Amino acid sequence: MSILSINGLHKNFGAAKIIQGIDLNIEEGEFHAVIGPNGAGKSTLFNLISGQFSPSAGEVTLHGQRISGLRPYQINRRGLSRSFQVSNIFAQMNVFENLRCALMWSSGVGYCFWRRAARSGDIDARAHALMDEIGLTARGTDMAGNLSYAEQRALEVGMTIAGGASVLLFDEPTAGMNHHEVETFATFLKKIAEGRTVMMVEHDMNVVFSLADRISVLVYGQIIATGKPEDIRADPAVREAYLGADA
Ligand SMILES: Nc1ncnc2c1ncn2[C@@H]1O[C@H](COP(=O)(O)OP(=O)(O)OP(=O)(O)O)[C@@H](O)[C@H]1O
Ligand SMILES: [Mg+2]
Repeated sequence: MSILSINGLHKNFGAAKIIQGIDLNIEEGEFHAVIGPNGAGKSTLFNLISGQFSPSAGEVTLHGQRISGLRPYQINRRGLSRSFQVSNIFAQMNVFENLRCALMWSSGVGYCFWRRAARSGDIDARAHALMDEIGLTARGTDMAGNLSYAEQRALEVGMTIAGGASVLLFDEPTAGMNHHEVETFATFLKKIAEGRTVMMVEHDMNVVFSLADRISVLVYGQIIATGKPEDIRADPAVREAYLGADA
């Protein structure tokens, strides 16, 4: 059984048919990249999976159970967590506090009243472990807003994995990074993906082809190809629709 299964998924915004019948199965432990031109519907697909939108038709199942129609936090509790294209961190809090917040949300505290909440040794210990996993221990007491751009994205990954989700969705994790940062971050994502299942929207083809076990190509709300990197690279329809002749 696939860990994540997308069946006959459609999403319309008024008359605009943005997602037009997507079927896709993601296997446990897989690193799956979704590529496609701007406006193809990649973020919309993620919004449908993570519960920000409900589908016009079709459904998504996680561990064999339907999650479409559930609220994002309910889907999160079932083990699926996503990052956003736009940053979600609190610039005025330090790294440790940001992680602590994410941990408190995931354990059911709706708002981040951590400053007033009794100190919890358990949450603190988990925040330290997370900081270590994302390589930001040395930056723990620095304001998130003072981190480098790549460090902020790493913190965001930390907040995404805080709740212990086994399925992670990353929407353009390397967007806005310079070449060196992208390389470092790709290595980081590979480490984070160990023991987890990942779906990633990404425009940087070096990152996609170095990390993905399989790739799906989304064009105008439909998946025109799914396969191993070498098959996608060689696929004439993909080259024509998206990768270009020089891919
Ligand atoms: N809430 C919404 N209401 C109406 N239209 C929307 C909504 N969200 C997305 N769209 C439209 O759906 C289409 C797909 O958008 P989406 O953000 O999913 O594309 P994308 O593949 O993620 O693009 P990019 O690579 O630029 O991030 C766009 O035409 C967009 O304007
Ligand atoms: Mg997008």
